[in-house]
Amino acid sequence: AVERTLSMIKPDAVAKNVIGEIYSRFEKAGLRIVASKMVQLSAEDAGKFYAVHKERPFYKDLCDFMCSGPIMAQVLEGENAIAKNREVMGATNPKEAAAGTIRADFADSIDANAVHGSDAAETAAQEIAFFFNAFELCDRP
Ligand code: CMP
Repeated sequence: AVERTLSMIKPDAVAKNVIGEIYSRFEKAGLRIVASKMVQLSAEDAGKFYAVHKERPFYKDLCDFMCSGPIMAQVLEGENAIAKNREVMGATNPKEAAAGTIRADFADSIDANAVHGSDAAETAAQEIAFFFNAFELCDRP
């Protein structure tokens, strides 16, 4: 089925100036960008976005990192977009990411791991709504 998923290019990859290279990976995988913006998250924003990880030991470092510089948020659309985006990103830990994936090529560590992608349909809907309103989501048949 055609799905939408929320993707972020994290501060490390924005700082490396590889936004275009990462967008190209999405497009080559058949994913269409239907919304996009650069934003600087506040500590409060990051805390809310990652609230599901509140009890995890990496929560504070993750939130600090995510508001350390601007990020790109985008909505990707396509057949099986959620799984496809996760395939293109590679494993969370870049040391385990398959060759040719975004994280294998651009990530430095499990925290500074270049990209985020929604993990399921329900979280995708929540994460898309966190960044974008109806006017910012475009139809690209
Ligand atoms: P992301 O897909 O953005 O979702 C949560 C983030 O927490 C994850 O990517 C990693 O960057 C970060 N993180 C740090 N340590 C861990 C860990 N041990 N397990 C999972 N995620 C981690």
